[in-house]
Amino acid sequence: MFNALIVEKDEEGKTSTSVQSISLDRLPEGEVTVAVEYSTVNYKDGLCIGPGGGLVRNYPHIPGIDFAGTVEASDDDRYKPGDKVVLTGWRVGEAHWGGYSQKARVKADWLVPLPDGLDTRQAMAVGTAGFTAMLAVMALEDHGIKDGPVLVTGAAGGVGSVATAILANLGHEVAAVTGRPETADYLKSLGATRIVPREELNETTKRPLEAETWGGCVDAVGGVMLARLLGQMKYGASVSAVGLAGGAALPATVIPFLLRGVNLLGIDSVMQPYDNRLRAWKRIAKDLPMDKLDAMVQPATLADLPKLGKDILKGQVKGGAGRRRGLACHGDPVPVARREPAGHRQCDAALRQPPAGLEADCERPADGQARRHGSARDAGGSAQAGQGYPERSGQRPRRRRRERLTNPVGRSGCAATRPPVTVLRRGGRAIGPPPLKAYGDSTAWVCPKWRFSKSGGTDVSQNYGTDRPGP
Ligand SMILES: NC(=O)c1ccc[n+]([C@@H]2O[C@H](COP(=O)([O-])OP(=O)(O)OC[C@H]3O[C@@H](n4cnc5c(N)ncnc54)[C@H](OP(=O)(O)O)[C@@H]3O)[C@@H](O)[C@H]2O)c1
Repeated sequence: MFNALIVEKDEEGKTSTSVQSISLDRLPEGEVTVAVEYSTVNYKDGLCIGPGGGLVRNYPHIPGIDFAGTVEASDDDRYKPGDKVVLTGWRVGEAHWGGYSQKARVKADWLVPLPDGLDTRQAMAVGTAGFTAMLAVMALEDHGIKDGPVLVTGAAGGVGSVATAILANLGHEVAAVTGRPETADYLKSLGATRIVPREELNETTKRPLEAETWGGCVDAVGGVMLARLLGQMKYGASVSAVGLAGGAALPATVIPFLLRGVNLLGIDSVMQPYDNRLRAWKRIAKDLPMDKLDAMVQPATLADLPKLGKDILKGQVKGGAGRRRGLACHGDPVPVARREPAGHRQCDAALRQPPAGLEADCERPADGQARRHGSARDAGGSAQAGQGYPERSGQRPRRRRRERLTNPVGRSGCAATRPPVTVLRRGGRAIGPPPLKAYGDSTAWVCPKWRFSKSGGTDVSQNYGTDRPGP
């Protein structure tokens, strides 16, 4: 018999959790049985401890999307009793029983042998977030990190903290983007040499290209920040896109890809092939200074998990600097509690929600509307001008360039290239431009025909600012 956190669902669909003592024969089929020593708490775990958020297929269920432990029994030649192993991804803890249990039975293919130099506690202090950070750094290396600082966004978070520590340890100059100034000392202790306030990057600009600044980037934030930093990458540099803490929408242009050969690399930790997993865990053992992990962990037991699960969904589990990722172990020990940003879904929702009493609709901008959009946003951008990077702010271009960029919107015949914008309606009647934040997707369209037009008409220079000279 062993203990596990079991989530059950009653006939009315209500879920409840309890730590129960269950027998080995209740474990699902699989080639390897593992005595689980540590697991972590992630946002997905919070969902699966509760109603499941659509992730859990069958009840009763054992959550826990990752674990590390010792092999007890194996029908697979690759593993024998006593081997130390780690598991992340493969929908374990969602579609399959997971790590919030003193025993787990899984497919041998899902496991990775723990490399020398890493114990099970350290492996789960790294957890899925740290493993993903390593994948992101490896992807950058595979595509070549350019000279200059490497940017890490969401730096005080789980992925960002580990990415910062690894990159600094590898000798890169690391610029850490954070929305919490109080984490500056913590980020510097991880090796960051420059702290970039979040608001310097969290605003769209009308210029698809800005000064070439970053030699690489690990991005845990996505959204507007990712769109903005794409235009600041050095020629041929790469961005590893890991997360969506700032939102899932990407209000960007393709210009950085076409004119600067920037690479946008998608990072998925769940279905990562075995060879790459093995390589990543070996690199973690070699390149992550383990003493940095202690500040990120907080012990917890199986019985603590229901509360930690609720807290994590509310964004209340602390970690990083003053944030502490919970570490739970099985002995009765278990997880490393982590918080995923409350910002995720809120941000997305904020973009989609019209003000009370209004309906939002999606349309292509009518002639002349583009100017109003651009001007309004520009006013917002100018408010930020002078803070941080004046040369990359939303300031209007100098007069000569503005003339070159002048463009007759509406006469160009390029309406089809304009992306849809949100239009507010009351009782089916359009009532005017939506609030600024609703324009997140509408600022980035580019039409070369407009860019260099010399004729009069609507000034869209703010929308099409570019480093390239006109013809
Ligand atoms: N691709 C994969 O396989 C994979 C694996 C793991 C995680 N993820 C994703 O990666 C992201 C980061 O995970 P994590 O474990 O590091 O989460 P986390 O510990 O909660 O950290 C996220 C960080 O993002 C920043 N942030 C939060 N809300 C923001 C907003 N609205 N705008 C800008 N920045 C914001 C914060 O950084 P500061 O406190 O420094 O401001 C926060 O600490 C999540 O979206 C997660 O779902 C993906």
